[in-house]
Amino acid sequence: MEANVPKRKEPAKSLRIKVISMGNAEVGKSCIIKRYCEKRFVSKYLATIGIDYGVTKVQVRDREIKVNIFDMAGHPFFYEVRNEFYKDTQGVILVYDVGQKDSFDALDSWLAEMKQELGPHGNMDNIVFVVCANKIDRTKHRCIDESEGRLWAESKGFLYFETSAQTGEGINEMFQTFYVSIVDLCENGGKRPTANNSASFTKEQADTIRRIRNSKDSWDMLGVRPGASREEVNKAYRKLAVLLHPDKCVAPGSEDAFKAVVNARTALLKNIK
Ligand code: GTP
Ligand code: MG
Repeated sequence: MEANVPKRKEPAKSLRIKVISMGNAEVGKSCIIKRYCEKRFVSKYLATIGIDYGVTKVQVRDREIKVNIFDMAGHPFFYEVRNEFYKDTQGVILVYDVGQKDSFDALDSWLAEMKQELGPHGNMDNIVFVVCANKIDRTKHRCIDESEGRLWAESKGFLYFETSAQTGEGINEMFQTFYVSIVDLCENGGKRPTANNSASFTKEQADTIRRIRNSKDSWDMLGVRPGASREEVNKAYRKLAVLLHPDKCVAPGSEDAFKAVVNARTALLKNIK
């Protein structure tokens, strides 16, 4: 008789995780969290003083996840308060404002601050990072485009989402993917699943796209000295074309970079005898 009784499935154990938010003051960290947890948006800026702490429960597959969220103040003034909260973190929400270049450029220093506080034995490889390119509703003010943000994030193996705490765009998808990745990481013994471990493009490709974006003229873009010969221009062009050809390179922004290189070569060859 007993053999016919279907076994009750053991409920998966609940999980407790710690998540922190990082990024410059006023980029929208608190609003992103509020939008997700309270489904509302506050347009008045209320700077976080030191740290705000909250707990929320989410469901990922058959597991209940208890999330402790530490929402950090971005202002440098609060460094002494927030520096104690970096340790024992499973997930980081790294935010910048797409209309504030400074806040995008500051992402590296946020990682550096965390690394420093974790000390020589801290391991950032076992943490899930999600980059939020926030305030995408302010289209007129935008100065960092999607491919630039995505390239930065994906070349580090981080998740990337375009978000607006004001309209709610991207917020639920971002949190859902973020929590699933953290659970995957916990179930994988604290190691990032290998698929997410490495970007699908090389550092050389990412660096080259960035260099092309920032180049001051066509010579600079091709990486040749002003007044270089046709042969030199063609040689430099061929090297870049192989590296960035859309059939071979999937790095964000590679298509635009490839087009820019083609145009630069055409423009230069027109004027070289
Ligand atoms: P600190 O706590 O000082 O580090 O700032 P924070 O990053 O937590 O910024 P906060 O969430 O307080 O938002 C700063 C300002 O930006 C507020 O006036 C928000 O209303 C506004 N804001 C936040 N997200 C968005 C957004 O997606 N779109 C627009 N238009 N405004 C936003
Ligand atoms: Mg805040």
